[in-house]
Amino acid sequence: MLTYMGRRIATLDDVDVTSRKVLVRVDINSPVNPQTGELLDISRIVEHSITIRELVERKAAVVVVSHQGRPLDQDFVSLSSHAKILSNLLGVNVNFVDDIIGPEARRAIEKLEPGEVLVLENTRFLAEDNVEAPPEVHSRSYLVSKLAPFFSYFVNDAFATCHRSQASIVGFPLRLPSVAGRVLEKELRALNRIVELEERPKVFVLGGAKLDDTIKVIKHVVESGIADEVLTTGLVAVLFLLAKGVKVPKDVEAKVLGKVSKELFNEARELVSKFKSIKVPIDFIVEDKGAISVSHASALRGTPKDIGPSTVEYYSHKLSKSKVIVMRGPAGVIEDPRFRVGTDSLVKAALESGAYTVFGGGHFIAMVSQLPENLRSRVGHVSTAGGALLYFLAGERLPGLEALVKSNEIFKIAT
Ligand code: 3PG
Repeated sequence: MLTYMGRRIATLDDVDVTSRKVLVRVDINSPVNPQTGELLDISRIVEHSITIRELVERKAAVVVVSHQGRPLDQDFVSLSSHAKILSNLLGVNVNFVDDIIGPEARRAIEKLEPGEVLVLENTRFLAEDNVEAPPEVHSRSYLVSKLAPFFSYFVNDAFATCHRSQASIVGFPLRLPSVAGRVLEKELRALNRIVELEERPKVFVLGGAKLDDTIKVIKHVVESGIADEVLTTGLVAVLFLLAKGVKVPKDVEAKVLGKVSKELFNEARELVSKFKSIKVPIDFIVEDKGAISVSHASALRGTPKDIGPSTVEYYSHKLSKSKVIVMRGPAGVIEDPRFRVGTDSLVKAALESGAYTVFGGGHFIAMVSQLPENLRSRVGHVSTAGGALLYFLAGERLPGLEALVKSNEIFKIAT
């Protein structure tokens, strides 16, 4: 049974899609090379192809929608190349129309036969899919009003966009019986498990550069008791050192404080004085005028680029005793091989501990895929979600999941 905050969400197991037209909202929003327009990472398309393949095999007529980028950004591009990649992955012909709700799209949807796949254009080419509004409002949008009448079911597979109350996410569930796709189901089961597992200790290793969001996550997991310990790394660690009153070089301080609101920095100060379970590194690998050295955290000489060897040992020891581990954001500047030792070591320590381990954020997708089989097989889950994962871990309600709960209540799909 799939649940969100204790309430039921229907899945693909609860519906018979044979010979039905099904609208699937995926999140194949991918990084794009601004010069060539080429997609730089297709892992989200690979993930969603699982749900689409199942629907094809179950003889549904499958219409796929997704956003890509944000208006005026360089990655705000058509989904035509995504459709080609999807076609190669599925080994079936995937049709693409350069339209979303207009006559061309509607004709193509009408003609679609069971077992066929059609990809519509980037939903954010429509103004409506760029505004946040309640589900009731979006259920009356042009996007939903024009498309809903063609379909028997709406499948939300886009966990990574469930933190947005946008038309293509929250509008359909009030009009159509709506279920979770396999990617969304897998994400939600893994995240529910972090909270529900009774084994302790639960340890969160939080790094990366999304400072405001990560402070909210730390606040939620320590205050609610979900986490027994939080091991900070990356810029998050420098922020918490500052919050503890430790002096760091002026340029480093300016960089970190420039990325965080005053209000949340004050929050970090309160948290760190109240919760001893929030840990900061002992040392860092620093770079100073091209020279690389190890520097104690209380007397940093240079720019921190990775956690240092004593921190790796200290954190790895803690991880070896953990039963549930959540790791989000890299511990250092892992794009440079000189500064990925910390992250690699913590990943290895987490997996060798035998704990149920969930990795979050794009960086870990490639990293985990490069691990030797004996470690890779111990990974509990790798989330492809960015913001949505942070919202979930921060205890905020995700409108996309709320809409699925509501749809199940309205249409009584899963009983
Ligand atoms: C993401 O990559 O986090 C999702 O695709 C959501 O994209 P957005 O932040 O532009 O809504």
